Amino acid sequence: MSRLVVLSNRLPQAGRTAQAGGLAVALADALRPGSLWFGWSGRISTDTSLQSHDERGVTHVTFNLSEAAYRGYYTGFSNNTLYPLLLFRLGLMRFRADEFMCYEAVNNEFASGVLPLLRDDDLIWIHDYHLMLVPAALRAAGKRQRIGFFFHTPFPPPEIFGVMPRARTLLNGVCGADVIGFQTASDRDGFLASATSMLGVRVDRENRFFYAGREVRTLVCPVGIDADDFARTARDASRRLPTERLRQSLHGAALLFGADRLDHAKGLPQRVDAYDLLLSRYPEHRRAVCFLQVAAPSREEVAEYRRLRRELDERVGDLNGRHGEADWIPLRYITRATPRTTIAGFYRLARVGVITPLRDGFGLGAAEFVAAQDPGDPGVLVLSRFAGAAATLDGAILVNPFDSEAIAEALHVALTMPADERLARHERLLDRVRAQSAADHARRFLDALAGVGAQVEELSSV
Ligand code: F6P
Repeated sequence: MSRLVVLSNRLPQAGRTAQAGGLAVALADALRPGSLWFGWSGRISTDTSLQSHDERGVTHVTFNLSEAAYRGYYTGFSNNTLYPLLLFRLGLMRFRADEFMCYEAVNNEFASGVLPLLRDDDLIWIHDYHLMLVPAALRAAGKRQRIGFFFHTPFPPPEIFGVMPRARTLLNGVCGADVIGFQTASDRDGFLASATSMLGVRVDRENRFFYAGREVRTLVCPVGIDADDFARTARDASRRLPTERLRQSLHGAALLFGADRLDHAKGLPQRVDAYDLLLSRYPEHRRAVCFLQVAAPSREEVAEYRRLRRELDERVGDLNGRHGEADWIPLRYITRATPRTTIAGFYRLARVGVITPLRDGFGLGAAEFVAAQDPGDPGVLVLSRFAGAAATLDGAILVNPFDSEAIAEALHVALTMPADERLARHERLLDRVRAQSAADHARRFLDALAGVGAQVEELSSV
């Protein structure tokens, strides 16, 4: 059997239980013992040599980034240029040629670092926008292994993607892969339209194309979670101290809950505004509800993230100042990374899960909220139409995340929803979350990738 080699920007730091971000969750089921996981340690140091250690049978090979690489590749081009662009936030994109050169250099270092570790029949699976040039760099080094690439973020249409000065180079880089995976059909459409207009490829009916003498396949394959396992975690967590203390502190108030990275794409200011409107328009909810928002700090070297943090500090304070009472704080706001198990308990306790990103690849929190609910008395999911999860999670109340008034109305509907409708919606949602597990995501992607080898053998045996 082929060995799986995963490349991602960052590996989880050993000993840290609070990991922010969907990639680590999505990969947990793919990485079986015997696999290799290669990427940045998450540390900055002048020592950038490779370090290797074993975690439950998976070999982790990591390296530190130099200060310059961290600034140019990670903070700069990845998070100041590419991420806003992929999230449709053109106004936040800032392009600097020197940062692109640094991104190119670090992508080449990823490729040259992993090269000596590769075996001929490895399946190589590269993740996320940080590493778009790695597939072509491996091909340029003569590597013929099967290479897959998965976009955890959305992918915009060419009218947006093409604005970025090095868009063509990036597309060329990804097209070194044999299989390119996306969270939704519209992300795949955006990519294929970009490749058509910028690389001149001709896409066939099966969404494949030839590029640089090789066939490139595309696949819609959304991430997921292990629903039953997460439900168990949530049940256990709901009996432990953090959830128990939260329950007691609510004095019977209904909990609205959101847990996100503190990121400009998550729609947090609009969410705070919506809650503000809810309390003004529907005074019956005053003292009867409490909103808890966990916002794990993220990418704090990027100016927009620091600006957002200040804005939220102000808005949360303003809301609590105007609506709060001596014995009732309407909005509780935590800006610390919080263990996933604790979050699971909070999801279970919540009457309403509020997942309203302005745009998101998938939005795994939506699946986690659904799985965590008590099936006999479930809460209601209020979900952004622009989260990848909305394409599959039938049963949520869908909202336009830019429209705080619409979110406020949806929160009211969720808080007053009769039990039979809550039960019916949750049943549909749970079916979907169960049918789309993390293991299925990995299996579908890796089956497609393994199939590439079969095709090469078929062709060569003719
Ligand atoms: O949402 C995009 C993404 O790159 C995820 O794939 C990842 O888990 C998360 O952001 C965390 O990003 P960072 O490593 O920048 O904290």
